[in-house]
Amino acid sequence: MMSSRYRALCRYARKVTLSPSDIEEQDIEDMRDANFSDREIVDANGIIAYYNYANRVASGLGVGVAQDSRMGRVASRYSIDAGRYRDLWGPLLRPLSLRLFDFLPLAQAGRVLDLGSGVGLLLEDLDRAATLSATVAVDCSVGMLELVPRGHQRAAMDAHKLGVAAESFDVAVLAFMLFHSADAGSCLREVRRVLKPGGSVGVVTWGKDLIATVDEIVADELDVHGALRVSALGSYDIHDTPDKLAELLGAAGFTAVRSWAEGCDYWSDLHGFADARMSVGQFRIRLGTLTGQPRSLCIDAIHRRLSEAGARRPAICSDIVLGVGASPVSRGLHRRPAQSSPHLTAPIG
Ligand SMILES: C[S@@+](CC[C@H](N)C(=O)[O-])C[C@H]1O[C@@H](n2cnc3c(N)ncnc32)[C@H](O)[C@@H]1O
Repeated sequence: MMSSRYRALCRYARKVTLSPSDIEEQDIEDMRDANFSDREIVDANGIIAYYNYANRVASGLGVGVAQDSRMGRVASRYSIDAGRYRDLWGPLLRPLSLRLFDFLPLAQAGRVLDLGSGVGLLLEDLDRAATLSATVAVDCSVGMLELVPRGHQRAAMDAHKLGVAAESFDVAVLAFMLFHSADAGSCLREVRRVLKPGGSVGVVTWGKDLIATVDEIVADELDVHGALRVSALGSYDIHDTPDKLAELLGAAGFTAVRSWAEGCDYWSDLHGFADARMSVGQFRIRLGTLTGQPRSLCIDAIHRRLSEAGARRPAICSDIVLGVGASPVSRGLHRRPAQSSPHLTAPIG
């Protein structure tokens, strides 16, 4: 059954959405009576208003987003978290993704695809590494793409159905995005379709140590302290080892596949890493369902367990997994026609 707090939130969301001009002081008072702080009311209002904005933008452009699909939910969540993602996750992820660059033929590339580009953290780096190239940022989240720095080409598309001609890119980079796919094999096959023969793909994703450790602790304590459950929109274990990633790349038809694992130094600040993790996505939403003492107890328990986990850091960590592969030069019978009906295609700029 819905708590009175949730009923109040739903009533407020409904009114902000359907009849915003009718909102009056009493509506705010009703939220306060339901134990929402002024800060929480401002946050709730921002999130509800953002959903309305994003839906109107998409509807106004005639773009149909399948809200019930994994991609629709990923797109909405990232749109809401875009600013926090750029500020908190950007500095953590960018250095990890850059490790891939030495293994990709960027210097000779003519067109580079940054698939699942998010807010475009890698675009400047790609431009520097691939001086001859035009880099295109593609993401399903309009909110993320809006924060891509001006001057870069960007488009809203589903990575599984790119509205892009076959054989049109030299290099595709998939940095920390493949785990969101409900069908990573089909996403990689689509990447192979849009790569020129001999083109290269590079993937970097979470390995089995760092994020699994943090996520397990955070999820456990949220459960113990009664946080509401929301769906996780990532499945790291499909490619959290070099062997699994190599198998996925090979099964998608890539050749010359190479994959490996690396450690990273975020273990020295597991608390900061976990705070960033809890500031976006499912953990932010779940933590937001706790208030007062349960919330403080939950956060304390998480940090206590993180300290213990930090002390038990594996001697050799597989924190991230990287992989590269090449699109076959001769595609023979495997060649597929160009995609004709992209699921979602909305050039933004
Ligand atoms: C963790 S972020 C990584 C962003 C960026 N690559 C980086 O390293 O900063 C994952 C991104 O993948 C995007 N994404 C997830 N599934 C997608 C899909 N099916 N099609 C396009 N983008 C997708 C999300 O919207 C999000 O911006």
